[in-house]
Amino acid sequence: MPRPEIKRIGVLTGGGDAPGLNAVIRALVKTAVKVHGWEVMGILDGYEGLIKPHMIKPLTLADVRGILHRGGTILGTTNRANPFKYEKRLRGKTVETDESDKVIRNVKKHKMDCVAIIGGDGTLFLGSKLMKKGMRMVGIPKTIDNDIDATDFTFGFDSAVFTAMEAIDKIHTTAESHSRVMIVEVMGRNVGWIALHAGLAGSADIILIPEIPYDIEEVAKKINTRNEQGRDFSIIVIGEGAKPIGGTQVYWNKTTSDGYGRLGGIGHLLAEQLSPLVENEIRVTTLGHVQRGGSPTNVDRNLGMRFGHAACRLIQKGKFGHMVALDGNEIVSVPIAKVAGVTKAIPTDHPLLKMAEDIGIEFGR
Ligand code: F6P
Repeated sequence: MPRPEIKRIGVLTGGGDAPGLNAVIRALVKTAVKVHGWEVMGILDGYEGLIKPHMIKPLTLADVRGILHRGGTILGTTNRANPFKYEKRLRGKTVETDESDKVIRNVKKHKMDCVAIIGGDGTLFLGSKLMKKGMRMVGIPKTIDNDIDATDFTFGFDSAVFTAMEAIDKIHTTAESHSRVMIVEVMGRNVGWIALHAGLAGSADIILIPEIPYDIEEVAKKINTRNEQGRDFSIIVIGEGAKPIGGTQVYWNKTTSDGYGRLGGIGHLLAEQLSPLVENEIRVTTLGHVQRGGSPTNVDRNLGMRFGHAACRLIQKGKFGHMVALDGNEIVSVPIAKVAGVTKAIPTDHPLLKMAEDIGIEFGR
């Protein structure tokens, strides 16, 4: 494949933020400028910045100094700006317009030979749609949920798990003092990776994940057995997308503009279901966005750096429409078309589930 001539690239962060975004941006800018001699343009607020040309600014080495340890993204982000269905207020009404041609014009106007898109499944998919219209792009997978296919891990996940684990540790001591059942609801949308990893590390007694609809009788049985054994407190970690057998997921908002809806509330439903079945008092803690904020862990800083560096290699080789990915300990690349729309759920025979069940953790099945 002949190598394309690249002079200037753009970079944007889209969708929900995740710890490690700044590590990616920093490595990408440093590699682009120092190794390849390219200029970099920072696109502000995700696709919003590609629609509005004044939101595209040069991103220099000075701009990325001192940001490695910082959470969030220096470029800003949004999950509301879909260029193909852009929401606008027109004569007092919200209407959807197709702004994708404008995006292509703005990319040309700013002479960006390729745009590096750092985002989750939805953001990457939009990038590949824009590629079909003429915008060269490469992808960098990001999400605390760890649900993007073809990469063993996304950056942001480790930090979210660490935050949840620390919270569960704190819940543990108060649970023990009061002989309570403590329910900790964690993020993760339709997959239970955060619940599983944080629950294991935080020594939860029961872990409930979206992939395994739970049997409330089994959950109560585990708590009551512990009570009989003199362990009269229990910790339950539940993923926000979990549901009881025969039940449905709990949303606090079903009609968000990105079409995903917002999960939340299953912890309280579980408390209601459990209270007639156990004697312990029950309390619920919903961790929410604390899992997305704050400094990235060393794992996410280093993975973010490796992804940012590798994305420049993809651009240099002309592997447009590909994303970087982690395979074991190797950074590889995969076509975005192969992963778009595929959610990486926990297989119900995953070795971590088997290990957890062997050591006595209950999954409500
Ligand atoms: O996908 C990341 C995530 O944090 C999910 O775990 C959560 O369900 C969702 O985003 C929350 O989105 P928002 O920040 O828009 O409330």
